[in-house]
Amino acid sequence: MNAIEELVNSLPKAELHLHIEGTLEPGLKFELAARNNVDLPYDSVDQMRAAYDFADLPSFLVQYYEGMTVLLTQDDFYDLAMAYFRRIAAQNVVYVEMFFDPQAHTTRGVDFGTVISGIRRAQHDAEEQFSIRSQLIMCFLRDLATESAAETLNQASEYRDWIVGVGLDSDERDNPPIKFQQVFIDARSQGYKLTMHCDVDQDDSVVHLWQCVSDIGVDRIDHGVNALEDDQLVAEITRRGLGLTVCPISNGYVTDGTKSTEIKTMLDKGMLVTVNSDDPAYFPGYMTENLVTAQREANLSNDEVVRLVRNAFTVSWLSDADKQSYLSRVDEVVGAL
Ligand code: HPA
Ligand code: ZN
Repeated sequence: MNAIEELVNSLPKAELHLHIEGTLEPGLKFELAARNNVDLPYDSVDQMRAAYDFADLPSFLVQYYEGMTVLLTQDDFYDLAMAYFRRIAAQNVVYVEMFFDPQAHTTRGVDFGTVISGIRRAQHDAEEQFSIRSQLIMCFLRDLATESAAETLNQASEYRDWIVGVGLDSDERDNPPIKFQQVFIDARSQGYKLTMHCDVDQDDSVVHLWQCVSDIGVDRIDHGVNALEDDQLVAEITRRGLGLTVCPISNGYVTDGTKSTEIKTMLDKGMLVTVNSDDPAYFPGYMTENLVTAQREANLSNDEVVRLVRNAFTVSWLSDADKQSYLSRVDEVVGAL
């Protein structure tokens, strides 16, 4: 490890933009396919990896949803989440707010309860075994009908205490934030925190960001890099203290670059930008690799790297006391350097 990798690895880190289904590594995918008698259109891990040559968000989503067909039982979801926790324990990630996509499973005949119970059991065991705390964010698939999102919100009510917030992901084209305004109003009234993907370089990215901020009133924005195109939007996001969860390696796969320079610009403007891994099995790189990528590409100083790490705790959905306690742990490591 070089010096920057050592610094990044040694800092206690929080991850706020992570799709648990996007952590399904090819090896586990084959294992679960065999266990569940599911046919995969690949003969080997290498062949599968070779198919991961995404040009944009839709071409990634095809592979992402195809991969999920091996996830059928509560144990499958448990194994998926435990594999992720094991990976990040080695990188000193201590807190995670992670997305799951219930509709990607219920539409295949897998019960909501099966999905969330498997993940929940892994969250519990990860806290015991690795001291990693985590909370769940339920994402609605924006390319499905609003009625399906509303039905999913209903299904979640039985598990209300297991879910901290709701998000919005999948194909953004022709699926603006405003389409889901009512579902998000309902979710807010039930006490959920709100976030939404505003993916990078989409049609009408800036319009979607304004909807997110002004019409929906989100608590955080996932990606959101295109906010930099509009000074007033930057000012409003900053005024509201909204965090942005940017994913450099992911961006490198589905857009024209990692947007690391933009991450630096956001820091310079005082925006609460964070670095995350998104779907690390598909965009190879977990937290450390993503922070190291941003550092290298934008030539970030140690202070800037530390700010990215601190921002994640600051904009997390933890209590103020818990945030302070994690931030002190970061400061202790920095102080000892
Ligand atoms: N954007 C949209 N949909 C997704 C993503 C993403 O980054 N990851 C998994 N589903
Ligand atoms: Zn994402």
